[in-house]
Order: sequence, then structure tokens, then C-alpha cells
Amino acid sequence: MEKIKIELSTNLKPKPQDESKLAFGKIFTDHMFLMDYSDKKGWFDPRIVPYAPISINPAASGLHYGQLIFEGLKAYRSKTGEIVMFRPEKNMKRLNASNERLCMPTVDVDFMVGALKELIRIEKDWVPAAQGTSLYIRPFIIATEPFLGVKPSGDYMFIVILSPVGSYYPNGIQPVGIYVENEYVRAIRGGVGHAKCAGNYAASMKSQIKAAEKGFAQVLWLDGVERKYIEEVGAMNIFFAFEDEIVTPELSGSILPGITRASILDLLKSWGMPVSERRISIDEIIEAYDGGKLKEVFGTGTAAVISPVGELTHGDKKMVINNGEIGKLSKKLYDEITGIQKLEREDKFGWITRV
Ligand code: PLP
Ligand code: COI
Repeated sequence: MEKIKIELSTNLKPKPQDESKLAFGKIFTDHMFLMDYSDKKGWFDPRIVPYAPISINPAASGLHYGQLIFEGLKAYRSKTGEIVMFRPEKNMKRLNASNERLCMPTVDVDFMVGALKELIRIEKDWVPAAQGTSLYIRPFIIATEPFLGVKPSGDYMFIVILSPVGSYYPNGIQPVGIYVENEYVRAIRGGVGHAKCAGNYAASMKSQIKAAEKGFAQVLWLDGVERKYIEEVGAMNIFFAFEDEIVTPELSGSILPGITRASILDLLKSWGMPVSERRISIDEIIEAYDGGKLKEVFGTGTAAVISPVGELTHGDKKMVINNGEIGKLSKKLYDEITGIQKLEREDKFGWITRV
């Protein structure tokens, strides 16, 4: 791969004054990474340039048929000022899995991790330090060939933008209310549910609005065939802690294989806790709840970190989990994972990449 060309901005934006007020994904840094692809040349012209609108042909096939995939990961600043990323190679591998599913060209994982480092080094002053803040990294690829027939595009553009962020939910680690969707579905096996493609999120918005109108933060999806088995939440995977078992839905092909999910599974196993990846129905959850055996529910995700669920509502059935308070296990996992990310706890698994 070619060396990355760098063009620095001469018009730097002011950094956020008060890091404690950072929201999610509203402001962007001074530079972005770009590279192009054509069938003939492969990926070419990697460059870091000032952040600016991009020009795109209105016939670009990605705008019409949705060959558009993305990733989400974060860079963190430790107390000593070091900047690190959390498992970036996993995100680049998942990006490639999404590419494969949508017939898009894969990228070189090591090259891309290096490119992220280079971009973040340039933007190092944008990495916030306050508790609960980070620099969100959004790589994405869009098909750019101007052609209206339905076929995989011959041209693509890979872009990485950066955004200093606070917590994804306005109330931080306070438990969220989640609405179990029983009308619409997000994905089905054999479809694209396991890929991080833009269309999955477009498909989720109808329910997201419905849930928000009812006062819920997000939607919990059930499987697309029987509408019975738990899948995942809008922007996170989900775990249920019963008295004697912690369960997360197995990777069925219709849910996103979350990197936080995988990391939480590793942590729980290393603590000797009984954890399973299996099919779990909403009926099983209701039964456990009614029997007083459902102790905690929490979501996991890059943006959401660990989000305790304080209420889960399915039709007329309202379940208040752990009195709507943060549970011990959720708190312990939150402290451990954010501690590792901020270099305050030992990185036993080698998850940290120094920038
Ligand atoms: N599920 C969905 C639909 C998501 O958008 C995300 C966020 O990326 C996750 C799960 C969690 O994945 P990860 O832990 O890799 O961020
Ligand atoms: C993430 O956690 O990175 C996500 O992609 C969630 C959402 C912002 C789409």
C-alpha cells in the first residue's frame, strides 16, 4: 500500500471547552482519512486531509442501492495522557466481514490500524480526558460508481471521521428503559443483520421512533421469523443475568457480533462466572422475572459501553429490573472495561493498542 499523504488544515476549529458537556457524534475534528478504490487499481491514494464536505456523483450506486458499510470504535486518553484504541483490529476484521457480505472490496487490516493511528496522532488534542469521554472513530465505505444498474460497484471511497464524544445515552450509565418490538423486525437469518451496513439502521428507525414516543431509550429486537427469541438492541448487544447463569443470544447471523460483547464474554469467563451464548426467548425472560430470578439486564456496545437496563416492556408486560438501579455485575463490568480502556486496570487480554 502507498504511503499516506498528509495535508494539514490551516483553519483549526476550537476544541470543546467543557468536556463534561460532550454529547454523542455532534462535532467533528479537523482532519479525515480518505482513500479510493477502483476495480483496476485496488485501494489507492490514501490521504489525510482537512475535514470537509465530499463531492459525490448523484448516480453513485451506494446512494441508490445501499452498498454502504461502517464501523465504530474509540480512542481513549489515560490519566497520564497516553492515547490508546480498544481492539481496533477486531473492528477492521468486522469491516471486512461486512464488505464481504455486501460484495464490497476488503481492506488490509494492519494498514488500516496504522492509518487510524496516524489520523489520531494528528488529532491527538481532540481526544478528551474526562471520565466517560473518548474520541469516537467512524470508518465507512461507500460505493461511488455512477451506474444505475443493480450490480456491485466498481468504485468505492473509504473515509474515516472522528468525533469527541460523551455518553451515548443522555443519562450516562443510568439504567435505560427498553421496549421489546413485536411488530417490526430488524433482520432475518440469511440477510444482512450480522453486517454493519447502513440499511440495518434505516430499517430500525420506525421502531426507534415508536419506542421514543412511549418514553423508551431503545428497542429490543426479537427474531424475524417467530418473533420469540431475543436478538439485540438498536445499538448494542444484550445480556441477561439470572440467579445461576448469564446469557447472551448466540450469534445467529442476524445480530451484530459486538466487540464489546466478545470482550464481556471473555471477562465473565475469566472471572469463573457461568455464562452462555444461546437462544433465549422473551417468554423465558418473563418467566424468570415473575419467579424473581432475573437479576440484571445490560447492553454492551462501543457507543453504549455497558448500559444497565432498568425497564423492559413487552406488550402489556412491564418488567422493572433491579428496582431500576445499576446492578452490581453491570457496575463491575463497566468499571473493568473502562478501567482497561483508560489504562487504569491491567490489560490481561492484550486488547489495548497504543496510538
Ligand atoms: N448491535 C448493534 C446493532 C450495533 O450497532 C452495535 C454497535 O456497534 C453493537 C451491537 C455493539 O457492537 P460493538 O460492541 O462492537 O460496538
Ligand atoms: C457503535 O457502538 O459504534 C455504534 O455503531 C452504535 C451506533 C452509533 C450506530
